[in-house]
Amino acid sequence: MLDTKKKSLTFSVRKLRKSYGPVEVLHGIDLTLRGSEVHAILGENGAGKSTLVKILSGFEQLTEGELHFSDGSGEPERITLWNNAIAEQAGVVLIHQEFNLAEQLTVAEIIFLGNEIKGRVFLDKKTMRAKAQEYLDILRSDIDPDASVGQLPVSAKQMVEIAKAQAKNARVLVLDEPTAVLTQQESQVLFELIDRLRQAGVAIVFISHKLDEIKQIADVITVLRDGQLVGSYPAAELSKDDMVRLMVGRELSSLFPEIPKIPETAEVVLRVSNLLLQGNSTASSFELRKGEILGFSGLVGSGRTALMETVLGLRRAAKGNLGSVEIRGERVDFKQLSAARSKGVAYLTKDRKGNGLLLEKGLVFNFSLFSLHKISALLIDTKQEEIAFEKAVETFDIRMKDRSIAAGNLSGGNQQKLLLAKILEAEPSIIIVDEPTRGIDIGTKSQIYHFIAQLLASGHSLILISSDITEVIGLSHRVAVMYHGEIIGVLVGDEIEEVEIMRYATGLKNKNSHQEKLDKSGTSNANP
Ligand SMILES: Nc1ncnc2c1ncn2[C@@H]1O[C@H](COP(=O)(O)OP(=O)(O)OP(=O)(O)O)[C@@H](O)[C@H]1O
Ligand SMILES: [Mg+2]
Repeated sequence: MLDTKKKSLTFSVRKLRKSYGPVEVLHGIDLTLRGSEVHAILGENGAGKSTLVKILSGFEQLTEGELHFSDGSGEPERITLWNNAIAEQAGVVLIHQEFNLAEQLTVAEIIFLGNEIKGRVFLDKKTMRAKAQEYLDILRSDIDPDASVGQLPVSAKQMVEIAKAQAKNARVLVLDEPTAVLTQQESQVLFELIDRLRQAGVAIVFISHKLDEIKQIADVITVLRDGQLVGSYPAAELSKDDMVRLMVGRELSSLFPEIPKIPETAEVVLRVSNLLLQGNSTASSFELRKGEILGFSGLVGSGRTALMETVLGLRRAAKGNLGSVEIRGERVDFKQLSAARSKGVAYLTKDRKGNGLLLEKGLVFNFSLFSLHKISALLIDTKQEEIAFEKAVETFDIRMKDRSIAAGNLSGGNQQKLLLAKILEAEPSIIIVDEPTRGIDIGTKSQIYHFIAQLLASGHSLILISSDITEVIGLSHRVAVMYHGEIIGVLVGDEIEEVEIMRYATGLKNKNSHQEKLDKSGTSNANP
């Protein structure tokens, strides 16, 4: 039952160029989106993907070039006036990479913001609320339409954005790294929605650094490299290796470095004993040794972030908690992050916005924020700051065309790299990172992994929370798996593999009891 009219919708850019001031970031791009097609855009951090889709959706103006649109009823026509309002009118909807929801509104209000349903006199709040619930149901999300958006975790905010896009009846739906903050499960639900929209004739643009996802849903793949068009290809013709080669312009060496082994006798640098998290009845204990990477796996909401935040004093432990935290044998009771920092512990949160990048400030300024203590307390040595910054730019391959831009004008992935560089600049001995490589392209990921290996070799220790299971497996000496707010198992050596991790993460297996719950209770629903 395809609507053939909609099916032949086309939206193209020709010879598109974009400059910010004197700096050109897109150099003559040609691209055609079609109804019923999922068009993936692929490229390294800073390649120009977000800039391109902001132009398509009217958030940015092109510097040179043409846009052509046809709703399918006639020949494509050149668009002469294009801005966000006109684009939305035409059904072109962008879900931003760096979304910015008005935090004080409720979920239902956000979903219909600018798109309100009116009753005879007032807004029809009841209908909007019911509709909002419907859109969330389609996403199989249990987000409360009455919750205020500010309270929600990032992945829920992303789901709200997607619900909002449904309310807009998009004909061209542009998703800029929607899955960067979603769980695998949430991503799969999103792909089902995308599939349904594709069948209904919508043209979809999908940006992601996760090549498996692109393999799964794309019909066409366009590759950008450094603001240039490399080409557009039928997705079926490209392997993942092809994608990487086209993106990076060279073969990649191995993704993961050799991780240095640690001696049995390595000093315990962090010991957490019997720490009871809020809302939990079982306490958690773990140790981190010098030179070790301890990975943390678990489903979203399993308590990994909560555990680290309790250790760091950003969250209170449960009432009656008798647990303790020791750094190199010394008992500590952090009340704030600066206290942890002075003990050489650095923390990278997964919420980039809450992470203290001052988006309107310059790059060097942002970079030096935490490490001021290293530089003279009274007199900030700008020269030295700049030297350190230059070194970080090289190490982390932070890419920008112009050093004088504000941090907010870095591409999303490059903001993440700047954050990583910033927390490591303070030379912490214990590093706790939560989703460190989110939004970072595969080539740079590899660079970061190699850098982490160097850190370990020089005696740093790392706690790695990541939903990228390949990353956890590829880097960790041991993997702690959390389930319902407790550490349910710690895997070592050959045990560290995906299926085994998932068994623990889903509660099927429990190292404490050495019993597979499946054996006991799995029989009743074991029918195929
Ligand atoms: N407002 C701006 N002012 C100056 N430069 C900008 C601005 N916005 C983007 N840029 C630059 O344009 C280039 C392309 O950035 P863009 O955000 O499009 O990259 P991207 O491909 O989306 O990368 P990522 O994968 O990291 O999200 C970058 O060099 C970026 O710093
Ligand atoms: Mg981007």
